[in-house]
Amino acid sequence: MSVSFYLPELELENPKSNRDEIEERCAELILSDEQLREVCQRLLVEINRGLNKDTNKEATVKCFPTYVRELPNGEECGKFLALDLGGTNFRVLLIDLGPHVFHMESKIFAVPQSVMLGPGTGLFDHIAECLATFMHENQVDVSPLPLGFTFSFPCSQEGLTKARLATWTKGFKCSGVEGEDVVKLLQEAIARRGDIKIDVMAVLNDTTGTLMACAWKNPACRIGLILGTGINACYVERLENVQLWDGDHDDPKQVVINTELGAFGDNGTLEFIRTEYDRTIDQHSLNPGRQLFEKMISGMYMGEVTRLVLAQLTREGLLFDGMGPETLFEPGQFFTKYVSEIESDKKGEYTCCRQVLEELGYDDASDEDCANVRFICEAVSRRAAHIAAAAVACLLNKMGQKHVTVAVDGSLYRFHPHFHDLMVEKIRQLINPGLTFDLMLSEDGSGRGAALVAAVAVRIGGLAAR
Ligand code: GLC
Repeated sequence: MSVSFYLPELELENPKSNRDEIEERCAELILSDEQLREVCQRLLVEINRGLNKDTNKEATVKCFPTYVRELPNGEECGKFLALDLGGTNFRVLLIDLGPHVFHMESKIFAVPQSVMLGPGTGLFDHIAECLATFMHENQVDVSPLPLGFTFSFPCSQEGLTKARLATWTKGFKCSGVEGEDVVKLLQEAIARRGDIKIDVMAVLNDTTGTLMACAWKNPACRIGLILGTGINACYVERLENVQLWDGDHDDPKQVVINTELGAFGDNGTLEFIRTEYDRTIDQHSLNPGRQLFEKMISGMYMGEVTRLVLAQLTREGLLFDGMGPETLFEPGQFFTKYVSEIESDKKGEYTCCRQVLEELGYDDASDEDCANVRFICEAVSRRAAHIAAAAVACLLNKMGQKHVTVAVDGSLYRFHPHFHDLMVEKIRQLINPGLTFDLMLSEDGSGRGAALVAAVAVRIGGLAAR
């Protein structure tokens, strides 16, 4: 096993340490290379089922063609608006693209939970209101600007500006939106207000935006990966492999595929690595039985997986002398950012760990407790990084190109101190000989990428493509 964990001297000297038992209880979270190869292989089967016309209907990994076929070449110019909806916040952006430079104004608006779970008209009215406020403030409400709409949920696209929501994910559950074209819902909400005019040039997923933002600078970029509230990846696929493709077969004979691989495992294929903790999270989620891969990895769930392990081991008397902070037993109270903070302590120091435990209401953690808490955080986050790595390796092996740059964005990837390194190390072990790759942070793909998709559409005469 290539994973090694830090063993503080304290425990080696302390015969009463619970470490052995804790390690034993966490063994199911540590995946061997053999298991990860199996994850890779199974994902490939699911992706192929998604791409295949005859199996797509039942496929869990839907592999939606995005209608984005041209990548940016750095020459795109103009002013664009972008909307970015996909996590707890909603952003409106104004992007000024020049050859190889860009300028950006943006404003973040919260999406209250009542809106996330209320009627769809409420959500789109909220979006339209935020957009109008922003346009007035930035005085771009006179003539319509082209707009790119990053809508980061699984959508079946029927063109660059038509996307039907397949199903909500990540804590959203607005009624009346599933099955509907979200661009139409946006336009209707704007029409209801009557005070602004926009020209929607493209609707896209955040993975596509991330890919585009990176490809703008780096032509080797062929995969977009989000590791944030959710997890998902898109990649550039040859048209001949996309049986679902209903557009023309002109050059470039490729299209970006939004895999929606967060749903990998929804048909039971990941049961060989799922644990009781994963099942508990799923049962208490808004979308039971759905997004099972996502629930093992992403920021929305990783803190909760950790909490469940900590709570269980405390109950068994292995941590905090069996009496941890009360908040540890309350769902949703251990955030993914705590995992990142705890793991950013230098080995053998527990400053952040103690701060987190204090925030949870526990003031007298021993060094041994802290070391064990860190061990558990590492076990959960390594598992997440390793299965995310398996997904990337699967795509790299499938594409078979000599060198591919993977554009990555998302809070989990950005803020976890070791995620990048863990992924790189594991991808190296899982890819086919002769292939190389790099993981590149793609700054603000959802905003800039949306403007770029809109700009490419304008550049190649996308008005007709709409
Ligand atoms: C969820 C969404 C997907 C998005 C991902 C990352 O998995 O279904 O569309 O790309 O989260 O935000």
